[in-house]
Amino acid sequence: MNSPRLIQIAHDDPAAIRDELLAGLAAPTATISPKYLYDALGSRLFSAITELPEYYPTRTEAAIFTEKMQSMAEALGPVATLVDLGAGNCEKAARLFDPFQVQRYVAIDISADYLRESLENLQRQHPAMDMLGMGLDFSSTLRLPAELGDAPRTLFYPGSSIGNFTPEDALVFLRQAHAACQGGALLIGVDLVKPIAILEPAYDDPLGVTAAFNRNMLRHLNQLAGTNFNIADWRHVAFFNAAASRIEMHLEAVRDVLVSWPGSERRFATGERMHTENSYKWRADDFAALLQSAGFTRLERWTDDNQWFAVFAAFS
Ligand code: AVJ
Repeated sequence: MNSPRLIQIAHDDPAAIRDELLAGLAAPTATISPKYLYDALGSRLFSAITELPEYYPTRTEAAIFTEKMQSMAEALGPVATLVDLGAGNCEKAARLFDPFQVQRYVAIDISADYLRESLENLQRQHPAMDMLGMGLDFSSTLRLPAELGDAPRTLFYPGSSIGNFTPEDALVFLRQAHAACQGGALLIGVDLVKPIAILEPAYDDPLGVTAAFNRNMLRHLNQLAGTNFNIADWRHVAFFNAAASRIEMHLEAVRDVLVSWPGSERRFATGERMHTENSYKWRADDFAALLQSAGFTRLERWTDDNQWFAVFAAFS
């Protein structure tokens, strides 16, 4: 049996992370990158979100894969190397191993440590497969290190994670993805525009799981940046901004608040907000055009019957 190799590509040091966070906090409209939603508890809360009846993206995408697997496998052909961008528990990619005849699996996530357990389990189920876990933060630049070798790659970017990028940044990211999969393909999931009555409850569920997920960011910030946020001072706000075609998540002060950290402090008036996430919703044709602008020449797309979510295969 093979055993998974794990490598960690250098990540930001704690002082750089603290500086970035504090600059965002001090900005006229405080803004924190959504990647800080995911500490250990945040990752579990996100997983709980995917179980909520209101949160349609995960199960809609999964249904597209179930129903269209054959057609996808034909479009992609046998996959030499599957590169999983934001692998987490590796479950979505594992479903592709047999139908896509994957020879080599490269799981990428922020920390190689997160990947160890999932990869060791997967290796037991696929003893002959070559598996590599890579700790790499590709949120600002996607550059795949030489360790990947030069067999054609299929990049896998499911879940509408692309929705966290503005259209401008999504184009930059897709250009980098195009450069990283020469001779191969990108398989990407995208959430589509739909009625607001479906969109908003998915990000503001009655059980309050998404609220907990958003507010948990404050605990994470206290830990990373030495701030003294009191979670009870903040409420979850989520709405669809139709002009920008995105769900916005914010944390809103429910009273006047003074937040301090080593070296400085900031006042927030009642009702003042911090912007914590954007989740863009695309029209399928606009996303196809974006893939083409990024350099992809041939596209295939699959959707569910409601056209709530799309999966694209884009060939370099
Ligand atoms: C992981 C970015 C795809 O935008 O739907 C879920 C994150 N935020 N509920 C999304 C999220 C609130 C999710 N993505």
